[in-house]
Amino acid sequence: MPAFKKIVVTGAAGFVGSHVAEAIVEMYPDSQIVLFDKMTYASHSDNVIHLLRDKRVEFQLADLCDPDSCIKAVNGADLVVHLAAESHVDNSFGNSLLFTRSNVLGTHTLAEAARSHNVGLFVHVSTDEVYGQILEGDVDETAKLNPTNPYSASKAAAEMVLNGYQKSYGMPIIMVRANNIFGIRQFPEKILPTFIMRMLHGMKLQIHGSGKNCRRYLAATDFAAGVLKIIEKGTIGEAYNIGSDEEFTNSEVANMICGLFDRDPGEWVTYVDDRPFNDFRYAISYDKVKALGWARKVNVADRLPQMITWYSENQDRYPHFTRLANGGR
Ligand SMILES: NC(=O)c1ccc[n+]([C@@H]2O[C@H](COP(=O)([O-])OP(=O)(O)OC[C@H]3O[C@@H](n4cnc5c(N)ncnc54)[C@H](O)[C@@H]3O)[C@@H](O)[C@H]2O)c1
Repeated sequence: MPAFKKIVVTGAAGFVGSHVAEAIVEMYPDSQIVLFDKMTYASHSDNVIHLLRDKRVEFQLADLCDPDSCIKAVNGADLVVHLAAESHVDNSFGNSLLFTRSNVLGTHTLAEAARSHNVGLFVHVSTDEVYGQILEGDVDETAKLNPTNPYSASKAAAEMVLNGYQKSYGMPIIMVRANNIFGIRQFPEKILPTFIMRMLHGMKLQIHGSGKNCRRYLAATDFAAGVLKIIEKGTIGEAYNIGSDEEFTNSEVANMICGLFDRDPGEWVTYVDDRPFNDFRYAISYDKVKALGWARKVNVADRLPQMITWYSENQDRYPHFTRLANGGR
């Protein structure tokens, strides 16, 4: 197991970042750990507060686009795990420049700080959406990047910046691309937490378009274990897909949630206008990470009851839902 003196996790107060940070704090008991986050609307202090009880762990409130903050974070670090990003596709149609700013300029600024301070390993968390829609079969890590919306385009652009750093400066980078990740602490704008919160507030579920679009679902805890496996055993300069075979259409997801709340989908599901462009399906093969010894452990159906309990007990984290349920915006 490599020993790291100082590890930086960006986006740690967000959904996936908080799970990765938890796994890193546990896996590396001797490392100093910096949790770096700007605290956008999608983050929550309660996502990380439990980690800050450990004296080795500190929080840095900062924007990726600020070079001095990035330098402060990476100074003396031998591992950076970069998850911070604007992450919601729907928002990217309305404010795409923010996505380019945080995801591309922010990644570039962090990479430049890491390069100039000789960070030993930079793990960049990207997404399966960079491959664009995959109508049949699945794609491996050699597939061409073909993003179709401002979010995935900004993630692909960030990868290209890092590709340049890898080739020009020999910067030690590993790319990780994952499919839809689910679990507790995800801001209720993505499908699963939104559906759960709407059911908890007695609101109908809304599906974009026909409901036939499908996604594959991977548990956040499995994803975090995959990132650790890649840190331990991955090859510098390579990309790794971390995926799942659990594929559901959006209608199937709505039916599952209705079933758990004992409600009739015919009454509780409505269909609304689709996104400007909505990839029909994403599908990645993940043999390469399996070959490192990683395996998926958690199924959606096993985790949903726990998620429902968690969202029910933590509704006060998301006051915008109460406002929505009361007829506000
Ligand atoms: N959630 C998924 O299904 C999924 C799937 C594949 C890849 N990813 C990738 O995983 C990463 C984390 O996704 P998530 O779902 O946890 O997103 P999230 O929106 O829940 O969290 C993102 C975090 O990044 C922080 N952040 C945003 N802009 C920042 C900036 N300029 N400076 C510093 N911090 C900033 C936010 O405050 C937030 O805490 C992203 O890079 C995303 O592209 C997510």
